[in-house]
Amino acid sequence: MKKIGILFGQERSFPEAVIERINQKAEKDITAEAVKIDKMFQNAALGYAVIIDRISQDVPFYRASLKNAAITGTAVINNPFWWSADEKFFNNALAEQIDIPVPKTALIPSREHPTGTTGESFSNLTMPLNWDAIFEYTGFPAYMKPYDGGGWRDVYKLHDKEDFFHKHAETKQLVMLLQEEIIFEEYFRCYCIGGKHVRIMQYEPRNPQHLRYAVDKPASSQKLLKTIEEYTLKLCNYLGYDFNTVEFAVRDGVPIAIDFCNPAPDADIKSVGQENFDWVVETTANYAIERAKAQKDGQDNLTWGEYIKASVGGMPLNAKTTTAKKVIAPKATSTKADAKVAQVKAPAKPKATKK
Ligand SMILES: Nc1ncnc2c1ncn2[C@@H]1O[C@H](COP(=O)(O)OP(=O)(O)O)[C@@H](O)[C@H]1O
Ligand SMILES: [Mg+2]
Repeated sequence: MKKIGILFGQERSFPEAVIERINQKAEKDITAEAVKIDKMFQNAALGYAVIIDRISQDVPFYRASLKNAAITGTAVINNPFWWSADEKFFNNALAEQIDIPVPKTALIPSREHPTGTTGESFSNLTMPLNWDAIFEYTGFPAYMKPYDGGGWRDVYKLHDKEDFFHKHAETKQLVMLLQEEIIFEEYFRCYCIGGKHVRIMQYEPRNPQHLRYAVDKPASSQKLLKTIEEYTLKLCNYLGYDFNTVEFAVRDGVPIAIDFCNPAPDADIKSVGQENFDWVVETTANYAIERAKAQKDGQDNLTWGEYIKASVGGMPLNAKTTTAKKVIAPKATSTKADAKVAQVKAPAKPKATKK
């Protein structure tokens, strides 16, 4: 019997639904459950063929446990080593190298010294930094956000340099990105599962949270959706994520990747809506089963991205496309023939209010 385990925190709708769906499928010798841990010994297998990780970003004990699970043969979704190494600034640098448009972005040292350091620890930083060059590069308005953030925490829109210095002082020990603002006409959030299944969702980040997936007009063109799908696959394959979301702001018809380091993306039925939820549950269940079948004891069963593979192989990181094996087109709810994008119908009332 091969077990698929889900490791999760406070979320309730998604983990239960995935467990139930896998078990409903009644695949021979495959079963799913919530991961159970009552002790953790080095090099001792936990007994799972696959673990879907939804929480180790917040619980370092889990992250270390998952690395131990990985070395003892578990296929961990997502790769805990890569997730530990990755952050948004690196993501942007990689995106530029593989020809995916991203906003101009600068890395900003934390306002306060990291615990255990003093001014003496920063022998290599020129103080003050060349703020004029940084502000000229990104322009204003600009966005400032943690280099490894998520869930909209500590995201600021800044109007000028006084605003920057004022808000930066609030961020204490956080290392921040300062980023060009993309003024967009459309915005998309895309699930990508297994580096091959893509669900493009129209998204309106200026709406209150419960209405962000409620966009009541179709995407502007099929060509745009095709490009978004290609970029999503390429980013996730180069990074090596099994489960991720990629966000794009579209400016003058060009999709610009804003946020693509989301290895435990929101999948709550209350925020994503019933149709997106059904898709993400079904696709996760199928993919976890696929990984369980492919899992072999006594070897590494993780996914490694093209970036790492190129490094290990001593190859240049070129823009070789890791093409989709399969892209699931979400069922269009719009009557427009070309609307492949997932649309969640906005309720008639209350009307989505813009911030
Ligand atoms: N460079 C940008 N230009 C325009 N809007 C942005 C930019 N960066 C972030 N935002 C807005 O802020 C929201 C949160 O930022 P994001 O980068 O997605 O961080 P998080 O990982 O916390 O979700 C985005 O959904 C988007 O609406
Ligand atoms: Mg985001």
